[in-house]
Amino acid sequence: MRPCSSFLLAALVIPLGLDLYMPVPEENPVTAAKVELGRRLFNDRRLSRDESIACASCHDPERAFSDGRIVPVGVFGRPGRRNAPAILNRGYGRAFFWDARAHTLEVQVLKPIEDPNEMDLPVTEAAQRVGLAPEEISRALASYVRSILSGDSRYDRFVNGARAALSAEEQHGLQVFRGKGNCTACHVGPNFSDEKLHNTGVAWHPSPPSTSSGQPAGSGQAGILADPGAGRGDFKTPTLREVGRTSPYMHDGSISTLEDVVDFYDRGGRPNPSIDPEIHPLHLMTDEKDALVAFLKALSGTIRAGVK
Ligand code: HEC
Ligand code: HEC
Repeated sequence: MRPCSSFLLAALVIPLGLDLYMPVPEENPVTAAKVELGRRLFNDRRLSRDESIACASCHDPERAFSDGRIVPVGVFGRPGRRNAPAILNRGYGRAFFWDARAHTLEVQVLKPIEDPNEMDLPVTEAAQRVGLAPEEISRALASYVRSILSGDSRYDRFVNGARAALSAEEQHGLQVFRGKGNCTACHVGPNFSDEKLHNTGVAWHPSPPSTSSGQPAGSGQAGILADPGAGRGDFKTPTLREVGRTSPYMHDGSISTLEDVVDFYDRGGRPNPSIDPEIHPLHLMTDEKDALVAFLKALSGTIRAGVK
């Protein structure tokens, strides 16, 4: 896969703050026709076994393409394994899913169709239902996902020179974000993600009081990995765009407010044997925590999806 040049993105409007260059595979250039077909498929319930669930059921445009639940609900009311991420600016991504197990959007977009807890339908059957080849479904859905873009937030206007776009408190929050809070160690670039995996301890649960190991519970060294699917508790850094609208947070949906997220980092995450060296107690003052939350809320902007 070689990235193509950005003229093939003529079908999309890139909002302020995002890179005009998007790495699109040469064999699947973004065209208006494919984006529009992908938009229709994204909303098509026939892609699920019982025709009850569309991609948009879990990635709702009204909720910044997330679903507001701790874990999603798939066909026959089956609960999902992980929180449904807000799928924003994924065209710039290099790895997909919380554990980065898919390497292209073309591969990623077919997985939920076959996932037993999501749509539970063999792709060949989905293809028959909609009268398209699996490859056409993959290319169209990937093109539509590339068209889902969030930018032009007050933060973007501020860094582009509009001094008054952020309040004094939000500017203070930006300072904490880049400085004392150390957030940019991982939440970097136009999309606030390094696209890498890190252990912040979210998946680490202290073991119950009387364990056979005899180690004290909650010490941080005696515990269990609640989601063994992801290496040693490593998850991909998510974007922070629209984060004020995408609660609950983290791969397991375990944190419900941004205030609680900030407290989580202030405590130094959840200590465990494999925690990332960039995660440590921050000793933030109350006004610094408030400012950080105010700044995070200023990352909501305009979401565009579909063709111009
Ligand atoms: C039942 C809910 C559900 C449905 C339906 C669903 N998804 Fe998802 N989606 C999820 C969850 C949960 C994840 C994260 C799973 C994981 O990381 O293991 C996810 C992850 C993704 C990602 C990766 C985002 C990232 O940042 O890594 C993309 C892209 C995506 N879905 C697109 C789609 C498309 C396209 C469809 C329809 C074909 C779809 N989803 C259907 C719940 C759903
Ligand atoms: C070592 C890298 C790293 C650092 C430093 C870091 N984060 Fe994160 N952040 C992550 C990862 C990885 C996740 C997902 C963790 C999970 O779900 O298990 C995450 C999740 C989040 C989420 C939840 C987003 C969502 O959609 O679920 C927010 C909000 C957040 N971080 C804000 C911050 C803030 C604010 C700071 C600074 C105080 C910070 N992060 C520092 C890597 C980091």
